Amino acid sequence: MNSGSQTVPTLDMSVDLQVKQRLADIGRLVSLPPTTFRLLSLLMSEKTSARELQGVLEQDPGLAAKVISLSNSAMYAVRDSISTIDRAITIIGFKELEIIALGIGLTETFDLKKVPPGFDGRGLWLHCLAVSWIARELVLALWPRQTQEASEAMIGGLLHELGIIILIAKFPVHFQQLLDLVNSGQDLRQAEETLGLRHEVVGCLLAKNWDLPQVFQDVILYHHVPQAAKKSQRAVALITLADNLAFRTGYGVSIENVQIDLPYILNVLDLSVDRLQDLVKKILTSITKVQPLWDQVMNGKSRRQEENSTSLSSLLKK
Ligand SMILES: [Fe+2]
Ligand SMILES: [Fe+2]
Repeated sequence: MNSGSQTVPTLDMSVDLQVKQRLADIGRLVSLPPTTFRLLSLLMSEKTSARELQGVLEQDPGLAAKVISLSNSAMYAVRDSISTIDRAITIIGFKELEIIALGIGLTETFDLKKVPPGFDGRGLWLHCLAVSWIARELVLALWPRQTQEASEAMIGGLLHELGIIILIAKFPVHFQQLLDLVNSGQDLRQAEETLGLRHEVVGCLLAKNWDLPQVFQDVILYHHVPQAAKKSQRAVALITLADNLAFRTGYGVSIENVQIDLPYILNVLDLSVDRLQDLVKKILTSITKVQPLWDQVMNGKSRRQEENSTSLSSLLKK
């Protein structure tokens, strides 16, 4: 999938009629849990404090219980049992918890457990968490004062594959057809266009129905063709880069093969190859530390440690 030769996704692109009509209903009928919406607006509006995060979590007993249970899990090896949200935030870490809380909200909305055989639904969530983490770490390292941009990167990373998520969760028959074509040897892009299921367009239509801010609509629509973005170029380039880094570190989506126009991305982000290599090294270290937490949330064992040891030189190869 070479971004230079890709068809640019547009909202008036041909989309399966049944899917298009039902997406409008889904926009109205399927909403993110209130806590997730509160978290989204909190994270988008200002620099969030641990106290504000605590306030939102405490209003959602189910989420609060999950967070407290996570802080008591073996991976933190705390001596006394944790029973309050503020202690749990201290133990797990504020940055880690922001992503986890949003991730739990999304996984509760879209159950990806019933995925067709041969597709790794858990891997898709890990991919979204990894892109979210990498994108925010990049912003924090490149522009430490841009806290708003760091939040946008984190949320954009979690949402960028909304199209694939919604196809699996709400259009299983269509997704199965797509998977069959891919399994028969078709490239994902080709298969999507044959069936009118381009995932960037499907995701963006839902984001539009949900009235999500323009920056997220742009990230969802252009994450494979960042050159086509008219607005939000920096946010889109950032997510495209994070998507590629996630893919190259073993956090890819099984049906996608993400390649990017690296010179374009580096130019938009005003970044040199040397600086990027340096950042990748740091981010890989941080992701190895945070990954057991994601595994814990997904109720599984850590299984990607080996893949994470991908050599750095291969990361930047096109
Ligand atoms: Fe994608
Ligand atoms: Fe992705």
